[in-house]
Amino acid sequence: MNKFFITTAIDYPNGSPHIGHAYEKVLADVIARYRRLRGDEVFFLTGVDQHGQKMQQTADQEGVNVATLAARNTRKFIALWEKLGVHYDGWAATTDELHKKCVQEILATLYDEGQLYKKAYKGFYSVRQEQYLTEKDRGEDGQFGEEWGEVVELEEENWYFRLSEHAEWLKSAVTSGALGILPEFRRAEVLNAIERASETDLCISRPKDRLHWGIELPFDTGFVTYVWFDALINYISFAGYRSDETSSLPDFDTLWPANAHVIGKDILVPAHAIYWPCMLRAMGFTDDQMPMLLVHGWWNIRKKNAGPEEDDSEEKMSKSLGNVVDPAELAERFGVDAVRYYLVRDIVTGKDSAFDLDRLISLFNSELANDLGNLLNRSINMTKRFVGGELAEPNYDDDACKDVRCSLKDANKAYLAAMDAFDLPGALKAINSHVVRCNQFIEKNPPFELRKDDSQADRVSAILYHLCESCLHLSILLSPFLPDASAKIRGQLRAEQSFTGHLEDLSWGLLKAGHQTGKAKPVFPRIVLEEDQT
Ligand code: ME8
Ligand code: MG
Repeated sequence: MNKFFITTAIDYPNGSPHIGHAYEKVLADVIARYRRLRGDEVFFLTGVDQHGQKMQQTADQEGVNVATLAARNTRKFIALWEKLGVHYDGWAATTDELHKKCVQEILATLYDEGQLYKKAYKGFYSVRQEQYLTEKDRGEDGQFGEEWGEVVELEEENWYFRLSEHAEWLKSAVTSGALGILPEFRRAEVLNAIERASETDLCISRPKDRLHWGIELPFDTGFVTYVWFDALINYISFAGYRSDETSSLPDFDTLWPANAHVIGKDILVPAHAIYWPCMLRAMGFTDDQMPMLLVHGWWNIRKKNAGPEEDDSEEKMSKSLGNVVDPAELAERFGVDAVRYYLVRDIVTGKDSAFDLDRLISLFNSELANDLGNLLNRSINMTKRFVGGELAEPNYDDDACKDVRCSLKDANKAYLAAMDAFDLPGALKAINSHVVRCNQFIEKNPPFELRKDDSQADRVSAILYHLCESCLHLSILLSPFLPDASAKIRGQLRAEQSFTGHLEDLSWGLLKAGHQTGKAKPVFPRIVLEEDQT
């Protein structure tokens, strides 16, 4: 059995989760469920990044204790994953004692080995990005750009990690593919960034008088650990790295390396593609123990009243623009299926997309309510009415039936290829292509007409078999995306137990002669907006 270790970024719980957070978790959840269906032993780790200056600042602004704020907001994230059916195996909260202990052990080891040093620094610091700035970070006008937010001048002593010593190695690891990066076009971006990193070491501490909300350095208690150094370690601390025998954590040697770190494009450089591999190497990880980075794009927001072709019709989601989309509210209004479907259907993995409520509704109504929903209803209803809900071994065949089996085979193949390439929209399109084909099959071979002729009984029965068998296969392929809907479909087909194997064993003939199907009930009721109802 293959293992598949998948993680997401751990979110800052300094507010409520937004659709960017939801997208990433659903994306990872779909991949995890798919790998499980493939027969892999999957471990899916996600969580929250609770330390750092942002958290401390938000807490100060709101006048609450930072630990209270972290705990309160963390509950919102957990509740959302519950609501959206995001099923993880490990929960990485960085205030967890086991994580703190692991981070401190790693720091102590690096310190003992001379991989850390203390140095005075005077210069500029971006509060928003929580990092020191160099001359190279200035724009052409000589100023630090808006992306850095508030920039302050600081003079302080800190601890540094000898990042620059790993620059040459990192370049080769990125070039050779030892550090996996998908999509491929991101690799060039990383190689460019390494040039810069090779000149500076990474400051891994913050003086406590400036930031108290973090993990204390074990060898210098006036400091806490820089939030990124702390956060990145979640991928191994919660996977059992340096844990003792008695812990309930997984077996690290079996699990590592991560098959996919699912992250957004904004945290590829420098955190995941530079700091993280160098940290791992400093801890003694070899080239074949480097993780794979699966980098997704961003959900942006369409500006109000923007025309379809305008280049600047999209803007970033941000609290200050007041355009943040709340995924919990969307799920409340339109249902979990609509939200899960939209989030992975309308964005090419790796690229950006613009959130559009009309698209959410129209994709649900056309591909799920209309295409798949109709197919299910008609197939199950006609089976009930025309053959009393009992399927027979087909003893009739023709080109139209062969076509259906062929279409399913093609859809299956396209689905697997797409899923293996993390192309989720591609997989959903493959599913839909078979749905559309089945609906055409009904139009061209209408059982409700054919049944009027007794001599066509076998043909009618074969048509119904092809439809029900197709519905069952479709529900299986759809299950990583819409687990609840998929279970409902199988319930209506009374085929919960008809397939318990792995995807590669999925083949025609799951429904046996004499199989009794159940009753049709709409799985995807059309979304009708109240203002459209009149
Ligand atoms: O970066 N569209 O946390 P975070 C798509 N704590 N993805 C988005 C997005 C959007 N509009 N906005 C954010 C952090 N994301 C760190 C991670 S990992 C060791 C530490 C993604 O809450 C973002 O790219 O700001 C990241 O992958 C995740 O949401 C968490 O973002
Ligand atoms: Mg962010």
